[in-house]
Amino acid sequence: MTGWRVRDYAQDDLEAVIRVDAESGTAEESPLFPLSDAVAALQALHPAVVATADEVVVGAVVSRVEGDRAWILRISMAPAWRHRGLGSDLITALEHRLFAGGVRTVHAVLPDGETGATALHNCGFGARPGMVFFEKRGRVTPQAVSMLASLGAELPPGGLWQKVAGMQREKELIERRLVLPLAHPEMAAQHGVEPPRAVMLFGPPGTGKSTFAHAIASRLGWPLLELFPARLAAEYGLASGLNRRFDEIARLDHVLVFIDEVEEIAGTRSGADAAAVGVVNELLKAIVRFRGQDGRLLVCATNDVTTLDPAFLRHGRFDYVLPIGPPDNRARTALWESYLARAGAEADSAVLASASEGFTPADIAHVARTVSQVQFERTFDTGTRARPTTDDYLRTIGDTRPTVSAAMAQEFARQTETFARI
Ligand SMILES: Nc1ncnc2c1ncn2[C@@H]1O[C@H](COP(=O)(O)OP(=O)(O)OP(=O)(O)O)[C@@H](O)[C@H]1O
Ligand SMILES: [Mg+2]
Repeated sequence: MTGWRVRDYAQDDLEAVIRVDAESGTAEESPLFPLSDAVAALQALHPAVVATADEVVVGAVVSRVEGDRAWILRISMAPAWRHRGLGSDLITALEHRLFAGGVRTVHAVLPDGETGATALHNCGFGARPGMVFFEKRGRVTPQAVSMLASLGAELPPGGLWQKVAGMQREKELIERRLVLPLAHPEMAAQHGVEPPRAVMLFGPPGTGKSTFAHAIASRLGWPLLELFPARLAAEYGLASGLNRRFDEIARLDHVLVFIDEVEEIAGTRSGADAAAVGVVNELLKAIVRFRGQDGRLLVCATNDVTTLDPAFLRHGRFDYVLPIGPPDNRARTALWESYLARAGAEADSAVLASASEGFTPADIAHVARTVSQVQFERTFDTGTRARPTTDDYLRTIGDTRPTVSAAMAQEFARQTETFARI
């Protein structure tokens, strides 16, 4: 083992470079750029150099050029050749090529204590004090993406949670009971908290149950897969369709499964026909299986919690049964504010909130949309920008029947007392 020779990487070297790379790591942390990135850079002929001794590759440095910057993706050295200046030789040779090719800055990120740090120091690379390396990992791998697509799942856009206006009480509850333990499973485990697996949302139409399901998935960064019982029924028959779908779901790493209007398939079994009983039984079994795996949450929603088969609401199936009621005054104010801002309106949100008691978010959205459309048409017709006033909104509120009547609100309060588990 005398000396080595440094030369440009050639395509035939690929296998040897991979071999040296596998022997090279000295740190526990895995490198920032995976080997696949280095291989891709080599194949795309980004600058790279190798060192050979007796025609055997004993070291390699691989880079990727992006405009006038380059990243050193890999510094690899066979163990027997460390601490002899090989790394410095390789880096020097590479940097000549990079700077000659128009690169102005070369970056490298190494795990603590990794092979190559000394060489970088020796070549005049300075560690940047005061820099912290941030990273956020997407939950979904590319393979999972194609599987998700084939199951009809979607990755909701970020920020949906922030867009849920008002509903402070519900948001706080969902945040604490569901999101936190799922997002921090280790910390939850230290306290003996088992992350929730299934939650039932109930409340009058249009109060935001579906909105919450999507917002929770967005918050967790998990894909959302909505099950449509009617489709499963048409394809396979409902009971076996559910069984199949939950089998497929078991293969996903992270997923929020959403079943809307679950009362349609989870109605009470007493007095039901044999097929309907079979479906309820299948769903109960599926939930038990579903609960056995980490990284998933089943969210079911219903307008009528009283018609569900009691077995669903028993402990051990759904961790929580959460009421999602019509928005209170504060939540309505927040909802109005978000719509007023969007419409460039000069209207009083507090007045509108008081005038819209019993309105659901869907009702408020309807009024806001109606007023905005009228103003848009007015601006178009007159050529001057029309701005909606409090009265414009109040008039439309007057023409709109609230979804949640006093009787419904009372019934919801009664159901909350009987069924809620929070
Ligand atoms: N907190 C909220 N902030 C802003 N918009 C909301 C909020 N809650 C609901 N909406 C809007 O109101 C409409 C109805 O909400 P959603 O469909 O989530 O209600 P739902 O409870 O699922 O109704 P249903 O029982 O009829 O299925 C949607 O357009 C949604 O975007
Ligand atoms: Mg809904």
